[in-house]
Amino acid sequence: QKRMYHEKVIDHYENPRNVGNLPKGDQDVGTGLVGAPACGDVMKLQIRVGEDGVISEVKFKTFGCGSAIASSSYMTERVKGMTLEQAGAVKNTEIAKELCLPPVKLHCSLLAEDAIKSAIKDYQTKRAKRLSAGQTPPPQPTLETSPAVAPA
Ligand code: FES
Repeated sequence: QKRMYHEKVIDHYENPRNVGNLPKGDQDVGTGLVGAPACGDVMKLQIRVGEDGVISEVKFKTFGCGSAIASSSYMTERVKGMTLEQAGAVKNTEIAKELCLPPVKLHCSLLAEDAIKSAIKDYQTKRAKRLSAGQTPPPQPTLETSPAVAPA
């Protein structure tokens, strides 16, 4: 009988690392929630980021196949202790290689790449808001509030 999953996938599936939630409202937490249109699987990945820009905590919850669960579990281990830039550069191909995913399961690892990117983006958006809120004078006019015609 053909084995569907590599033992590394089974290991992450049976002993997933860092399952759970971080408080979404915490200002140092970024949340990424992504879905795979092809299969309907959903992955949530959250990071807590220190003032030094290093990821100190990672949690995930995945509603999906074994490869998706393993990919997110692996991703949480991989990015802990990384800077945001390093974490954003982790490619799904690396996960797929590490977990020996077959081509048909590549999109499961892509979900993990999308999730960490989305978590980073969420954190950065929050941070930018926080910084601009703390600024005096008030934030620069945005495109919407700027005059449509540039001064001559
Ligand atoms: Fe969809 Fe794996 S089958 S994430």
